[in-house]
Amino acid sequence: MMIKWAFVTGADRGVGLSLAKGLLARGYHVFAGQYAEDGNELERLEETSEGKLKAVPLDISDGNSVSKALEAVAAVTDRLEILINNGAILGDMQATVEDELDFEEMDKVFRVNTLGALRMSNGLIGPIMKSESKLIVNISSEAGSIGSCWRNAWYAYCMSKAALNMQSQLIHNQISPRGGKVLVLHPGHVQTYMQGKLDTAGKLTPDESAGQILERIAQRLDPGYAGEGLALIDDEGKELPW
Ligand SMILES: NC(=O)c1ccc[n+]([C@@H]2O[C@H](COP(=O)([O-])OP(=O)(O)OC[C@H]3O[C@@H](n4cnc5c(N)ncnc54)[C@H](OP(=O)(O)O)[C@@H]3O)[C@@H](O)[C@H]2O)c1
Repeated sequence: MMIKWAFVTGADRGVGLSLAKGLLARGYHVFAGQYAEDGNELERLEETSEGKLKAVPLDISDGNSVSKALEAVAAVTDRLEILINNGAILGDMQATVEDELDFEEMDKVFRVNTLGALRMSNGLIGPIMKSESKLIVNISSEAGSIGSCWRNAWYAYCMSKAALNMQSQLIHNQISPRGGKVLVLHPGHVQTYMQGKLDTAGKLTPDESAGQILERIAQRLDPGYAGEGLALIDDEGKELPW
C-alpha cells in the first residue's frame, strides 16, 4: 500500500502535537514541524512511531529553515497528501489604537502566522498537487473573521489570521480547478499554552480540537463530498463570516 504523508507545522505541543498523533492513528506518515530546540513530547512520539513520524526542525518565519524542511521532505517523498499550517503566535492582546502599539512584534506575528503558512504552501505545492488528496488545511481563528469581530485589540493576531483567510481563498482559486483542496478552520477555544500559560478557559482539549479537525479533513476527502466554494468553518462545523 502506498504511504500517505502529511505535514503539520508547530507540532511541538498544543493542537499541532495532537494533530500529529491523530494523523498517525489514522494511518498517515507525518512530518512534524519542530520549533522548540530540545527534547519534548514530539521527540518521544518520534521514537515510538516506528519511523512513521519524522520531526523536522522548522521555523516557518525563516526562509532558510523552511528550505531545509522542504529538503527533508524531498529526501523521503515527492508526494504530500495533506499540509496543515498550524504553527502560530499570538502577540499582544491588550493594546488598542489609543495605546502604544508594538509594530516590531506585529511584524513578527505576520511573518509567522500569515507569511509562514504561505511559505509552506508555496514550497510544498508541487508534492501536494502530485498527491491523491491535494489538501492544504490552514488553521485560522474566529479572531480572523472581520464579519464577527468584537475585539478592540489583538491587532497582530486578528489581522494576521484575516490575511491568512484571504491567502486561503487565493490558493483555492488557483488549485481547485485541478482538484486542489483548501480548508480554513477555527479550531475552537482550546486549552493550550498559546497565551504563555495554560488557558484553562478553553472549552476543548488539544486532542478534542484535533479530533474535530481530522473529522473535517476526512469529510473533505470523502469522494462524496458535496460542499461548494471555500468557507471559514468553526469547531462545530458552522460557517463563520469572513
Ligand atoms: N488555542 C486556541 O484557543 C486557538 C483558538 C483559535 C485558533 N487557534 C490556532 O490554532 C493553532 C494551534 O494553536 P495552539 O492553541 O495549539 O497553540 P500553541 O500550543 O502555542 O501551538 C502553536 C505551535 O506553533 C509553534 N510555533 C511558534 N512559532 C513558530 C514558528 N515561527 N515556526 C513554527 N512553529 C512555531 C509553537 O511553538 P512555541 O510553543 O515554542 O511558541 C507551538 O508549538 C494556531 O494556528 C492558533 O492560531 C488556537
